[in-house]
Amino acid sequence: MKRVTSYGDKGFSEYIKMAFQRNLGYDENDYNKPIIGICNTFSEINRCHAHLKPIINSIKNGILMAGGIPLEFPTISVGEMFTSPTTMLYRNLVAMDTEEMISAQPIDGVVLIGGCDKMAPGQLMGAFSANKPAILFTGGPMENGEYKGKTLGACSDCRHYWQEYKAGTISEKELSEINAQLAPTNGHCMVMGSASTIAACSEALGIMLPGSSTPPATVNERLRMAKETGKAIVNLVEKDIKPADFITKNSFENAITTLMTVGGSTNTVIHLIAIAKRLGIDLTLDDFEKISQRTPILANLRPAGEFQMQEFYHAGGVSALLTELKQLLHLEELTVSNKTLGENIEGAEVIEEYRKIIKPFHKPLYKNGGIKLLKGNLVPSGAIIKPKAIANPKLMKHTGKAIIFDSIQEMEEKINDDNLQVDESNVLVLRNAGPVGAPGMPEAGGIPIPKKLLKEGIRDMVRISDCRMSGTASGTVVLHAAPEAAVGGPLGLLKNGDKIHLDIENGILEVLVSEDELQKRKEFWKPPVFKEGRGYPQLYRNHVLQASEGCDFDFLLP
Ligand code: FES
Repeated sequence: MKRVTSYGDKGFSEYIKMAFQRNLGYDENDYNKPIIGICNTFSEINRCHAHLKPIINSIKNGILMAGGIPLEFPTISVGEMFTSPTTMLYRNLVAMDTEEMISAQPIDGVVLIGGCDKMAPGQLMGAFSANKPAILFTGGPMENGEYKGKTLGACSDCRHYWQEYKAGTISEKELSEINAQLAPTNGHCMVMGSASTIAACSEALGIMLPGSSTPPATVNERLRMAKETGKAIVNLVEKDIKPADFITKNSFENAITTLMTVGGSTNTVIHLIAIAKRLGIDLTLDDFEKISQRTPILANLRPAGEFQMQEFYHAGGVSALLTELKQLLHLEELTVSNKTLGENIEGAEVIEEYRKIIKPFHKPLYKNGGIKLLKGNLVPSGAIIKPKAIANPKLMKHTGKAIIFDSIQEMEEKINDDNLQVDESNVLVLRNAGPVGAPGMPEAGGIPIPKKLLKEGIRDMVRISDCRMSGTASGTVVLHAAPEAAVGGPLGLLKNGDKIHLDIENGILEVLVSEDELQKRKEFWKPPVFKEGRGYPQLYRNHVLQASEGCDFDFLLP
């Protein structure tokens, strides 16, 4: 191993290092072999990472075959379902842990094992700052669930069937039977939610090997791809190719094009901005809007389409999909395969039998508009919406009176209260739930439809918040309003009954109140008083950037 702990006596440092290197089973004959760290994020609590042991063994096999020495080490692991209050609060902690362990330890390169939503983004942020040769690998998606002949997907169907239960259209017994099939195998969520989206984007970004993002967790191809990843990282180390050497703004444009064409998760917008910033690359919401406008949605995947990752894998996955979009991609960008993106996808194709899953460029699922940027006096720094996940297309253009919830707790207490004066024309607003306000910007933006309206058959309403929504969710839901209410954004100036105007096609979100009146309200606005905090959550609140800037910490930017 090439680096040593410093004791102020170089000779002694070398001497003690060799003793512990022997303790690991290596000696001076191994001194010049590349040491490859494997960030082991195995966790029994983070269920999306509970199956990583055989995958890590395959990565190790690949490293050994290529002449490297694999050494796995633990880093933080957070999963969506069991992390409170939200994994987003800890994404930056994942990034810090990953960066510092890669930097501090005597490794020449690293394989990151991502999977659950915030893991891959946090790991990429950290690894890009550490800037040693790195490749991302993921645990892969679950297989489909099934109930009475219908495909089930985590967690689009978790939400869908819960809403139907509240509306009274399915029984408690059916709800329970569905529950047993929602997450049937190892792996991360199997719709094109946040986990699948960031994996697909990472492949296009060039930080995963081609073909490695889509195989389900349960197929043997995932193990073979793991082995190839092990070989590839040794090659990168030998050639000393680091992320900053080949990941460019154009690489990120390839990732954004992929996000749009798969109709992917809104969360990915925040993550890609944050990951890019770690390399000093400035991505703005306008970049996303520009690419969204020109990119057709070709992947027919839930929640925007019909199919799930299992079918997408059989249809050829990301490589096949990207062959349809060549004219929109920067094919000359280099990737961790040590080839260009264009070379990576050479020979991939969509065969006719899978045309219902990956559409041709000239006959897309939708012409464009995977994610739409909204601007206006309510969101001067922008907000976003996923237009193709809207359940009621009439809401694409809508004006309605605001019903405001000042916190997630207030929303939970009031939303199903029969005394709440609400009808389907209202606009539900949740504020003080952003990066600073919550803190951590939880996935509460998909404000539930009030139970009494569900029973009347209403399934969608306009909802606006400064927080996020799960990538597996759907509805007319405006997210990431920036600046958020807690730091003085206009959402905090709204009053119940104010008229809000949403025009998705033209990218407008505004409150129909005069500028003078808004200015007056601003003079009387007082920031929310937060309970004195401590530790990491307080650090987060003090230093997190807004959603439009990626929600990284200000002190972690290069
Ligand atoms: Fe981990 Fe959905 S719970 S990806």
